[in-house]
Amino acid sequence: MTSRTALVTGGTRGIGQAISVALRDAGHRVAAVYHGDERAAKAFAAATSIAIFKWYVGDFDACAAGIASVEKAFGPVEILINNAGITRDAALHKMTRDDWQCVIRTNLDSMFNLSRHVIEGMRERHFGRIVNVGSINGQKGQFGQTNYAASKAGVVGFTKSLALEGARHGVTVNCVAPGYCATDMLAHVRDDIMKTILAAIPVGRLGTAEDVARMVAFLVRDDAGFITGATFSLNGGQYMS
Ligand code: CAA
Repeated sequence: MTSRTALVTGGTRGIGQAISVALRDAGHRVAAVYHGDERAAKAFAAATSIAIFKWYVGDFDACAAGIASVEKAFGPVEILINNAGITRDAALHKMTRDDWQCVIRTNLDSMFNLSRHVIEGMRERHFGRIVNVGSINGQKGQFGQTNYAASKAGVVGFTKSLALEGARHGVTVNCVAPGYCATDMLAHVRDDIMKTILAAIPVGRLGTAEDVARMVAFLVRDDAGFITGATFSLNGGQYMS
């Protein structure tokens, strides 16, 4: 197994944290990018010995500088996991312009901001693995998530298009679409709504971050080169597309 440099955005909490650990356990040099929660990031670094880097994925220039610092420390990024994402749930008639823009910028602009700075190197070296984290709600829609669902549906189109561009250059691009997983992201969802959501999951439980991380670790393997442009649902059967 070749040890490669992997960059995971939102890599210190929730699903991203589990992905960072899974890639480290697979023998890769992992850079975990965070922005908001300093304390959680430091605790993650102390517990896992995984290197952490701080910048905002919605800022194109910050991504250029951040990726340069990762590459200086670990060498060219060969595996990119675009995981960072936020919610600002509200029905559209109550949604603010800021709710819309923040979500699109963090969840969708970040796809361009990160991928643009690594794609040329991946093409030149004839190897690259990009996994983008979508969502069940980008596939089926969700009350209160026009912003989030639009961003996550956008991730699928981005994935398919970049997969076509990378196919002849050893670069695979795939999407994982988690359902409801037990992470901090669910903290703001009211108990009555959570009950309804749980009742709609056929396997009868929330997903775990590790459920998703195992799939990501598989997709970035050297011998997964025939898998590209695909979206993998991990949602306990809640939505079958
Ligand atoms: N379908 C139809 N109508 C609905 C509905 C639904 N799914 N949900 C709510 N409504 C109706 C309610 O019945 C209510 O109707 P009345 O006014 O006639 O009583 C009305 O819409 C208002 O509903 P709320 O009281 O829920 O409205 P609110 O403004 O208090 O809350 C909300 C809105 C914050 C969006 C809340 O509905 C909510 O939290 N929804 C869940 C959103 C969600 O699933 N987020 C996922 C977060 S995790 C994630 O995103 C990760 C991932 O990828 C899966």
